[in-house]
Amino acid sequence: MSTAVFPAESPTTAAPAAAATRGHVEITNVRKSFGGTEVLKGVSLTVPPGGVAVIVGPSGSGKSTLLRTINHLEKVDGGYITIDGQLVGYQVRGNKLHELREKDILKQRTDIGMVFQNFNLFPHLTALENVTEAPVVALHRNKAEARKRGLELLDRVGLKGRADAYPRQLSGGQQQRVAIARALALDPKILLFDEPTSALDPELVNEVLDVIRELATSGTTLIIVTHEMGFARDVADTVVFMDQGQIVEQGSPQEIFANPREPRTRSFFSKVIEPAFNI
Ligand SMILES: Nc1ncnc2c1ncn2[C@@H]1O[C@H](COP(=O)(O)OP(=O)(O)O)[C@@H](O)[C@H]1O
Ligand SMILES: [Mg+2]
Repeated sequence: MSTAVFPAESPTTAAPAAAATRGHVEITNVRKSFGGTEVLKGVSLTVPPGGVAVIVGPSGSGKSTLLRTINHLEKVDGGYITIDGQLVGYQVRGNKLHELREKDILKQRTDIGMVFQNFNLFPHLTALENVTEAPVVALHRNKAEARKRGLELLDRVGLKGRADAYPRQLSGGQQQRVAIARALALDPKILLFDEPTSALDPELVNEVLDVIRELATSGTTLIIVTHEMGFARDVADTVVFMDQGQIVEQGSPQEIFANPREPRTRSFFSKVIEPAFNI
């Protein structure tokens, strides 16, 4: 893990990313329906260890549902997902998939950090307590150790000195950075971000994106849903365009933004990207 102090070091002086060996995500033909409506219609996606995949697409296209299947907050109706070769949410017995017990699902989920649009911090806990709660309760880590690590993580997201603040005393951008530190506290293999800046005032967006930019070089696998196209272009190895429950197209930022092959992709970007946007 990078020990770079955020945000003092520029990307050019930061230590090179460690060769990632964990966090290989394989999504295979995943289907999901709500009621009679199929909202994921056979989605397949590979994200290698340390990879950064950014998912874009119109509202209602299934982006959040897809993210939620990766940590089994949603059960899939068809297909499967593996992380480092291990099935998410299920085990194979005979030739059938059986859902894991709740206890094992929760254990598996500690490998997968998730950051939500609305931060979801505990209002009655301080910033530091929000960060240390899961390691102490879920992973039974030593309290003093968890506290030391929590302070390091708050420092890493630029919140040194705010450990004792309650969420209501922090700006939205600061709260989201606490949420990111909290997700990191479990040393996840994978971090999922669902529109992490959509609830923020425009002037607070960049402080959060800068933290995620730093994570993108740290070797943790990131899967990010966002409407911030400039950010997507900068951090993504792979940009994935979803529409109507399907991956329409995926490729490098250059391929997807500058040379989209599919008319649906072109039409979407013509609406969301400003003319001055440079590839
Ligand atoms: N829990 C749910 N119950 C019923 N319908 C849902 C549920 N969650 C999502 N949907 C529907 O599934 C579709 C995809 O939603 P979502 O994954 O949230 O899309 P996105 O994140 O791309 O906006 C939408 O039509 C949405 O209304
Ligand atoms: Mg969504």
